[in-house]
Amino acid sequence: MGTVSRKTAFMVSLCTLITVASTHYNPSQPRANSGFEYVDPLIGTLNGGHVFPGATLPFGMAKAGPDVIGENQGGFSSNDSEPIYGFSHMHDSGTGGSPSLGNFPIFAQSGCPNDDINACQYTESERATMRIPGSVHAKPGYFDITLASNIRTEMTVTNRTALYRFTFPETPVSPNTTLNPHILVELSDLPNTRSEANITVYANNGRVTGSGIFSPSFGIGTYQSFFCLDFEGAKLKDAGVWSNSRATNKATSLEIRPGDVRKTPSNRPSGGWVQFEKPTQGNQIIARVGMSFVSEEQACTNAEREIPTNNFDSVVAVAETAWRSKLDVITLEDGCVSDVFLKAFWSGVYRSMISPQDYTGENPFWESGEPYYDSFYCIWDSFRSIHPLITLLDPHSQTMMVRSLLDIYRHQGWLPDCRMSFCKGNTQGGSNADIVIADAYLKNISAGIDWNLAYEAVVKDAEVEPPNWDVEGRGGLDSWKNLGYIPTENLDTDGVGTETRSISRTVEYAYNDFVIAMLARELGHTADYQKYLGRSGNWKNMFKADQRSSINGTDSGFEGFLQPRYMNGTWGYQDPIFCSPLLDFTGCYLNPDGKETYEGPVWLYTFFVPGDMKTLISTLGGPERFVERLDWLHESGVLYVGDEQSFLNVFLYHYAGRPALSAQRAHQYIPSLFNDTVVGIPGNDDSGAMGSFEAFVMMGFFPNAGQDVYFIIPPFFESISIRNGQTGNTATIRNIKFDPNHVDIYIQSATLDGVPYTRNWLQHSFFLEGGVLELTLGPQESAWGTKPEDVPPSLGPFVNSTVPVNETRPVGKRWQMSGINWDLAASQ
Ligand SMILES: *[C@@H]1O[C@H](CO)[C@@H](O)[C@H](O)[C@H]1NC(C)=O
Ligand SMILES: *[C@@H]1O[C@H](CO)[C@@H](O)[C@H](O)[C@H]1NC(C)=O
Ligand SMILES: *[C@@H]1O[C@H](CO)[C@@H](O)[C@H](O)[C@H]1NC(C)=O
Ligand SMILES: *[C@@H]1O[C@H](CO)[C@@H](O)[C@H](O)[C@H]1NC(C)=O
Ligand SMILES: *[C@@H]1O[C@H](CO)[C@@H](O)[C@H](O)[C@H]1NC(C)=O
Ligand SMILES: *[C@@H]1O[C@H](CO)[C@@H](O)[C@H](O)[C@H]1NC(C)=O
Ligand SMILES: *[C@@H]1O[C@H](CO)[C@@H](O)[C@H](O)[C@H]1NC(C)=O
Ligand SMILES: *[C@@H]1O[C@H](CO)[C@@H](O)[C@H](O)[C@H]1NC(C)=O
Ligand SMILES: *[C@@H]1O[C@H](CO)[C@@H](O)[C@H](O)[C@H]1NC(C)=O
Ligand SMILES: *[C@@H]1O[C@H](CO)[C@@H](O)[C@H](O)[C@H]1NC(C)=O
Repeated sequence: MGTVSRKTAFMVSLCTLITVASTHYNPSQPRANSGFEYVDPLIGTLNGGHVFPGATLPFGMAKAGPDVIGENQGGFSSNDSEPIYGFSHMHDSGTGGSPSLGNFPIFAQSGCPNDDINACQYTESERATMRIPGSVHAKPGYFDITLASNIRTEMTVTNRTALYRFTFPETPVSPNTTLNPHILVELSDLPNTRSEANITVYANNGRVTGSGIFSPSFGIGTYQSFFCLDFEGAKLKDAGVWSNSRATNKATSLEIRPGDVRKTPSNRPSGGWVQFEKPTQGNQIIARVGMSFVSEEQACTNAEREIPTNNFDSVVAVAETAWRSKLDVITLEDGCVSDVFLKAFWSGVYRSMISPQDYTGENPFWESGEPYYDSFYCIWDSFRSIHPLITLLDPHSQTMMVRSLLDIYRHQGWLPDCRMSFCKGNTQGGSNADIVIADAYLKNISAGIDWNLAYEAVVKDAEVEPPNWDVEGRGGLDSWKNLGYIPTENLDTDGVGTETRSISRTVEYAYNDFVIAMLARELGHTADYQKYLGRSGNWKNMFKADQRSSINGTDSGFEGFLQPRYMNGTWGYQDPIFCSPLLDFTGCYLNPDGKETYEGPVWLYTFFVPGDMKTLISTLGGPERFVERLDWLHESGVLYVGDEQSFLNVFLYHYAGRPALSAQRAHQYIPSLFNDTVVGIPGNDDSGAMGSFEAFVMMGFFPNAGQDVYFIIPPFFESISIRNGQTGNTATIRNIKFDPNHVDIYIQSATLDGVPYTRNWLQHSFFLEGGVLELTLGPQESAWGTKPEDVPPSLGPFVNSTVPVNETRPVGKRWQMSGINWDLAASQ
């Protein structure tokens, strides 16, 4: 098939390829020349993706976007039936339950009918306005929408400041109205949690400042935030405050005090307003909103420092440059695949860099020379692929994030499993920051990290039960240490938390202990290494060898599943398909009547032994039986790929010596469930988790987070190159005989820097040192990567997989730290 490939870094020739599939690239259209052009921030903004599509810098605090009445976890939704009630300046992206942030929304009206200030609309439900369908345009760092009022709102950001450009219609839509722009701000947030609040309007220059106390969306406590709003572009006409549906210019400040009854925004909507004469140029008004968690003064200085001149287009340009520099560490030769893949891929990479958010200098709780990142939302979701992707593409930011996690530990005593808006977030299972830390260590994330402190922090997770283990650490540690599992109806005298998820917590705690063991060995804590390695086998204590699973009375054919256990050792029972799409899908959420697994069935959790797949495979009847069981998982409908625990299951075939089947599964899900449409992700993005999954998969490898292991499949493009930010070296994975139809997706042979390579996995040293991995593809599964010595390392039963097949270029040799010495482990 005569294909001409083009590097996306340069505009080269057009594809000459003509293919059968209609989804393919149209050769008559020249293609964009950088990943930036392919990012569509609107992917995942309908049907549960909850993606924030507005303007943000990479890991920025300011996130400006429209807020709808409706499915508004990320502020906006691509549902034309949901009206927009404002534009706010901070958001989280992809969250599940309740919406997050969205503090102090602003809203513009062209004027008030009959020039009566009380004829303007004030409350959320009164002022909410439909968008003009098709008026939305978004790119990284910029968002544009026009409402039925014919007011166009464009927005962009710096790190702490949102900038809006309103363009008003010459003739206002409402009757008897002359163009006298009216802009209000409301003391509220997306989930309507405001308690106390203040606002001050400066009638001399139109500045509005304020603050409020709000609740986090998935955690405990409250937080305070501050804003500073300035305008430019028109002469000030009038200003004041409003409450309920009435406004006045007689008062310029308003306070909602701690004791006020009925003080929530829905009970007592209030805010400020400013009205202008006709704008001097182009009917435009610029609104600049500085944000802070420290003070109104700091909100104002953030705005003044970051955007001194209100030049909207130049702020857009700076944001674009920031995004290009993040994305341009990846270069593709796309091999003439359909735009669907390019858009899904680049948008996935983009969404992986929205959070955690850099709030350094905004922490009101402690003084520290360390960076402070927030919106680790949540690590249960992000440890699997978001943090490994940031490690790969932006090691500097990952370093700052790890240091920030350790500084949180230093000042609050615990690593978070979830954290947003300076509040402790809910723990969903294990203490998964342990995995982020181990992963970072094994991948040479190092600058300025105190590894002794890091080790102390993960050991505390493993040893000390916190009083409230719903928001940090682990529960049931006494049983964990003495019984070797988390029992149903556990006796716990050490702490309090939601006593559900005994099965999923057991397998997660086991893997947490596994990575702590790896870290212990690297840091020379030999006794700890033995201890945690031992505890990492605790999943076996919940494996009921004779448990079967059936659907409506028809047996699945497989025997041996995880099952609940009581403290006395007696087995409980949870139907292995319960909480899968096949049975009571939503029965396992994080609430007091949840069950023994979290957001998924026993079927799924029975596969979660990422550190010891060899033992799991033999426990489940050997490689062939394991592959059959994994096939059943992917084909029966029991697996929901829109939740993060599913990701690793796409690649577990590698451990059974069948890497070809992992490639097949990857194509089963992309693009059918991960694509370039507004509904193009199957679940909540959870700060970019879905995005990072699709990005890794399409690059042709996927991490087993917490280990120095990446599973190899063919990239979805002809070739992909990544420049490492620590070493400056470039690693390239190239498909030979690439098929843009993705029919020939089976690796026949491989070479690394020209030398035959038969392992079906890579180590991080490949990306640090650079090199070229060439994969020759064909239409059928081959013997490549199938031998016991080709598969990624596991503990036991022991097969000595430490010997590279070809010693000429042993991977990781030049980087001793990454050398996994599995002999010691295997002697367990
Ligand atoms: C769009 O919003 C309307 C109004 O809230 C709702 O009834 C409808 O189900 C939504 N559609 C989708 C696809 O979410
Ligand atoms: C935003 O903050 C990041 C650090 O998180 C910094 O590297 C970057 O230069 C800042 N961007 C701008 C435009 O100031
Ligand atoms: C428009 O103004 C006219 C004249 O003042 C008045 O009679 C009419 O009621 C107004 N219409 C509306 C909709 O306010
Ligand atoms: C509002 O202002 C008062 C008086 O300055 C102050 O005591 C209070 O803390 C402020 N409330 C908020 C939510 O900022
Ligand atoms: C073990 O404990 C469970 C739960 O309290 C109880 O139902 C079961 O009968 C006990 N088994 C034995 C053998 O005592
Ligand atoms: C099981 O049977 C019920 C009742 O007939 C049916 O609604 C359901 O779809 C069946 N479930 C599966 C997974 O086949
Ligand atoms: C895109 O992904 C969504 C969500 O997973 C899926 O429902 C939809 O069918 C996919 N669309 C296409 C064209 O594959
Ligand atoms: C290792 O690679 C070298 C260089 O390509 C080759 O000559 C040699 O035969 C290979 N050895 C094995 C055991 O595959
Ligand atoms: C590990 O990281 C350090 C600091 O970023 C860097 O100097 C060094 O080259 C890296 N080591 C390897 C083997 O890449
Ligand atoms: C595994 O292989 C290595 C390299 O040949 C060898 O040094 C080591 O002793 C072997 N381990 C065991 C437990 O046999």
